[in-house]
Amino acid sequence: MTYQDFIPQAYSNTVESGKVTWQSPSNIALVKYWGKKEHQIPANPSISFTLDHCKTTTTLEFSKRSSAIKENEAFDFDFYFEGKRKEDFKPKIATFFKRVVQYCPYLKEYHLEISSENSFPHSSGIASSASGMSALALCLMSLEKEIDQEISEEFFNKKASFLARLGSGSACRSIEGELIEWGEHDDLKESSDLFGIKYPYTVHEVFDHYQDTILLVDKGQKQVSSSVGHNLMHGHPFAEARFEQAHDNLNKLKPILESGDLVSFMNLVESEALTLHAMMMSSNPYFILMKPNTMEIINKIWEFREQTKLPICFTLDAGANVHVLYPKKDKAKILEFIKNELVAYCENGQYICDQIGKGAKKL
Ligand code: PMV
Repeated sequence: MTYQDFIPQAYSNTVESGKVTWQSPSNIALVKYWGKKEHQIPANPSISFTLDHCKTTTTLEFSKRSSAIKENEAFDFDFYFEGKRKEDFKPKIATFFKRVVQYCPYLKEYHLEISSENSFPHSSGIASSASGMSALALCLMSLEKEIDQEISEEFFNKKASFLARLGSGSACRSIEGELIEWGEHDDLKESSDLFGIKYPYTVHEVFDHYQDTILLVDKGQKQVSSSVGHNLMHGHPFAEARFEQAHDNLNKLKPILESGDLVSFMNLVESEALTLHAMMMSSNPYFILMKPNTMEIINKIWEFREQTKLPICFTLDAGANVHVLYPKKDKAKILEFIKNELVAYCENGQYICDQIGKGAKKL
């Protein structure tokens, strides 16, 4: 599919007003996306587990204006976060609308009221852009479906992912579950830089309900945003090797996911997490998002794994928090270890128990 396929033809229906609510989850990458080209095209393919509990619920109320907004006129919308009007979030949404309006021309014809809330604590350091942008993209697609009832479920999800990507790259992996791949990759014929696809190959049952306990090490604002970080991959001395490595790691992951070889899985996932942070540390300007407690936790996980031989590993996103990954059957023992040994390194002892999920839901 190409960009052209997402530009709608004339609509079959007119709708005066309506309301729709979507609940969309966050996701955690196993092979990381870091570095992008223009129009949110990833520099390398990535794959993630869709999460289940960390999610954003967004309601979109739409009512038709007497006339469409004109060229250069601002989009007509209000934004509420957790019940309160939020002016400071509006520029991000306005930028998103500007990027998607050629694919969603109906945006000009409506007044929109957008209300959002997150299931995870506000400013927990958990990035809400994936869940937030995917929830908003899904709401737009529900509006589109009302004015063009021909849309198939498959196209609905693809275009939701396509739009979410334009809001925040990794958000395109939050529409469906349980494993989503995004970015062109030789071994995945259906793969695309434009949207995420469901991982099409066999996945061993050990990954059913795989657990992700998120340890909230630092709830503060990140010093370097991910868009700045992505851009620092331009001219990065290790960029090409890193992009190639991501392709290789996706190849390597296929037999690992099929056989349930957790030793190789843990090796690949931890290496990806550390490589992501190594790219940050070796860019110019360089930066470090891990905190001393991130390192303490990683070392404790390695020690515990060595002693018990339990399949526990970590991954990181662009921050200090640690995602602890492990199979459901080992939950009791590993959660006890987390509570006894790791929670002490979390800010205010906060952590979130999550697991692999099936994707967004319309409420
Ligand atoms: O979607 P963005 O632009 O916030 O980038 C997210 C990048 C990582 O979370 C670090 C990796 C990934 O693939 O999710």
